[in-house]
Amino acid sequence: MRLKDRVALVTGASSGIGEAIAARFAAEGAHVCVNYRPGSPPDEAAAKRAVEGFGTRGIAVEADVSRREDVERMVAETVAAFGRIDIAVNNAGIEIKRPFLEQTDEEWHRVLDVNLYGAMVVSQAAAREMVKQGTGGKLIFVSSVHEDIPFPGYTSYCASKGAIRMMMRNLAMELAPHRINVNDIAPGAIATPINRYVLEDPEAMKNAVSEIPWGRFGRPEEVAGVAVFLASDDAEYVTGSTYYVDGGLTQQVTLY
Ligand code: BGC
Repeated sequence: MRLKDRVALVTGASSGIGEAIAARFAAEGAHVCVNYRPGSPPDEAAAKRAVEGFGTRGIAVEADVSRREDVERMVAETVAAFGRIDIAVNNAGIEIKRPFLEQTDEEWHRVLDVNLYGAMVVSQAAAREMVKQGTGGKLIFVSSVHEDIPFPGYTSYCASKGAIRMMMRNLAMELAPHRINVNDIAPGAIATPINRYVLEDPEAMKNAVSEIPWGRFGRPEEVAGVAVFLASDDAEYVTGSTYYVDGGLTQQVTLY
């Protein structure tokens, strides 16, 4: 077990990549706070299921990561339940497809509030606890290949992910003296609800897969494996890095 008795917080953990990370962390011996968004009973049930049955303690906490008071309450509840926090995974994220010329302020702010501001506040609240504890910690961002490569129709999403990459690199420097490792995972096309619209459309699926050198979508568990590494002692000397989990997608260049 690579995370025995560590305490982890995973945002957006009621589905997709976050759920897989929460479950894998619990399987590796961590006590996990699984976060889900407010007002969704199915999300609450899924969040609880994610960490059940591993012999570790799990709590499910409802919080909107784009609201500071929610985030501070969630971190306080984690510390109250487990006595500390060692790992925070900023996974919660949304995307809205909208051609740039039709972009509304409301959609722009919603995407940036959840993806970027949310990741900042969770990191800050968790890092403050880690500094107080004095035993280091791990901050992990689940970014996207679109922190680096364009995605026409998703300008707000790409802007949020590009900014996460720079935030991660800055925090890696600022928090190094506190022995807090800060890293990014940049998933490519992973089979999760966020791209249900592609998964359910055979033609779109064919096009998407043709862009992936590995020839298939990734599985959430394949992202979780890298998260375990970054959360573990094996990553002691790893900070300020982006780990692509994309089947080679970022290397794909279409010439003709
Ligand atoms: C997006 C997906 C997209 C994938 C690969 C992810 O960050 O959320 O919608 O399929 O990148 O382009």
